[in-house]
Amino acid sequence: MRSMTTTGRFITFEGGEGTGKSTQVRRLAERLRLHGFEVVETREPGGSPGAEAIRHLLLTGVAKPLGAEAEAMLFAAARDDHMTATVRPALSRGAWVICDRFIDSTRVYQGALGNVDPRLIRSLERLVVGPDMPDLTLVLDLDPNIGLTRVSKRGEGTNRFEDENLEYHKELRAAYRDIAEREPGRCVLIDADANEDVVAVRIWMAVSERLLRPLREKGERAAE
Ligand code: TMP
Repeated sequence: MRSMTTTGRFITFEGGEGTGKSTQVRRLAERLRLHGFEVVETREPGGSPGAEAIRHLLLTGVAKPLGAEAEAMLFAAARDDHMTATVRPALSRGAWVICDRFIDSTRVYQGALGNVDPRLIRSLERLVVGPDMPDLTLVLDLDPNIGLTRVSKRGEGTNRFEDENLEYHKELRAAYRDIAEREPGRCVLIDADANEDVVAVRIWMAVSERLLRPLREKGERAAE
């Protein structure tokens, strides 16, 4: 984790399909910018040219026949490029990075749901992320019946993971809740069953409490 005396912070959003992550990433970034922070919005898989190329292989399902273990390694390869090209340079110049999905997606989709050995997943994390773990992970929690309905209403088609059945998505939700419960120092579970303004307020409260208040107390920033 970065020193709490530098300003840049690393925030990740996690959660099942249709929980509103992309919208909330954008809203949080806008609000932090109003407070004078430089904010980099990014996403996984992707967020750098190399990682976006791998994203295509993963989301179209081209890599699915290789199995969940190979997919986990491809997500890790994409993450490695993203960390090197985008995340670390931003954090080291003091920017805040807000990322739509990160390591917990691998733990949940490839680990809990894909039965990939947690030891492999942890070693990939150590190799690729190392000390640059998120300072805060917001886990958006929503009934998958609601989330999947939102996805289908978008009318953008579905990816290889969204195509899985409802039971799969219920297990995803449970696996995310489990991570949030086991790692309360890093994660905050956000009830996403409300309109986007209400969810944005819940998120802002978590960010204020976990990240802005400590900065204010250290006298680094007069952020609200
Ligand atoms: P999204 O950009 O629409 O959220 O799609 C990304 C998909 O990739 C989503 O269905 C979850 C999946 N995913 C994994 O399975 N493992 C990972 O490590 C990441 C980052 C995403």
